[in-house]
Amino acid sequence: MAVPAESGAGLPQEIGQGGDAVTPVEHGPLSGSSSPAAKPAIKECEPGEHVQEQAYYLDTCARFDRAEVASEYRARKNVSTARNRREWQCIEKALATIPSGAAVLDLPCGSGRLEPLLEKRGYRVTAADYSSHMVDTARAAYLEASNQPDLLEHMRFMQQDVMQMNFADGEFDAVICNRLLHHYPTPGLRQQALRECKRVSRGIVVISYFSNLALSALRFHLKNRFKSRTPTDRVPIWFRVLEQDLDAVGLRCTGTYPVRYGLSPQTYLRLEGC
Ligand SMILES: C[S@@+](CC[C@H](N)C(=O)[O-])C[C@H]1O[C@@H](n2cnc3c(N)ncnc32)[C@H](O)[C@@H]1O
Repeated sequence: MAVPAESGAGLPQEIGQGGDAVTPVEHGPLSGSSSPAAKPAIKECEPGEHVQEQAYYLDTCARFDRAEVASEYRARKNVSTARNRREWQCIEKALATIPSGAAVLDLPCGSGRLEPLLEKRGYRVTAADYSSHMVDTARAAYLEASNQPDLLEHMRFMQQDVMQMNFADGEFDAVICNRLLHHYPTPGLRQQALRECKRVSRGIVVISYFSNLALSALRFHLKNRFKSRTPTDRVPIWFRVLEQDLDAVGLRCTGTYPVRYGLSPQTYLRLEGC
């Protein structure tokens, strides 16, 4: 499938404390037998409004799908920092009602930053990501940290595309979609990802997004305005904008957990079906 020429333009933008920006890649159609999105989730599009949207989706898939990006991501993210601890606290609050033994999906798992936390809470964890490099890195990081030669039954790693998962309806008690939605600048992409998360969860969905209620968000918008550019990645939005996406897919927010209120745009939401 052809990727439009404008693919990658303006990606990514730096913002506040996010820190998960990586260099955009030049890429043609996604290929390789290991890639689950060799068959893209967003259907082949007519020239028109969905072409740009598909480019954002493909860029987000492709730019993390490299061995060096995955290993660098692990080195930067699988560490005990104050920010990681704050994010974990938000996620733990959102998961407070989910008991030990529950089936929890972490998608995208990236380099496996959340797996120690989810294991500590006694969950049966499925850690999945579009990128095979991220999945391999996450598995290796987990085995190394837990000092085990092989995975135990409660922990599995696999490739999945958030837009089109190979899981049954209601397969999980909770689905966590951490640090992905801020890479999707359009309601169409956010809604498709949210719809899939809702479909595979019989309980709650926990997401993060970049909220406008932060100083760094203001700085981000001013900087882009000053440079006369329209950002397309890591864009903070108002909750009411995200709420329209939630309404569209039949989810409602039952908990809000900002990582650092007023300072960081990173905000967690606990969602339930309407
Ligand atoms: C910013 S990282 C966040 C990773 C992880 N949640 C964390 O907090 O460390 C974004 C991740 O999304 C994954 N990703 C991008 N597009 C995806 C898709 N369509 N389906 C599943 N994962 C995707 C990337 O491979 C990358 O690992």
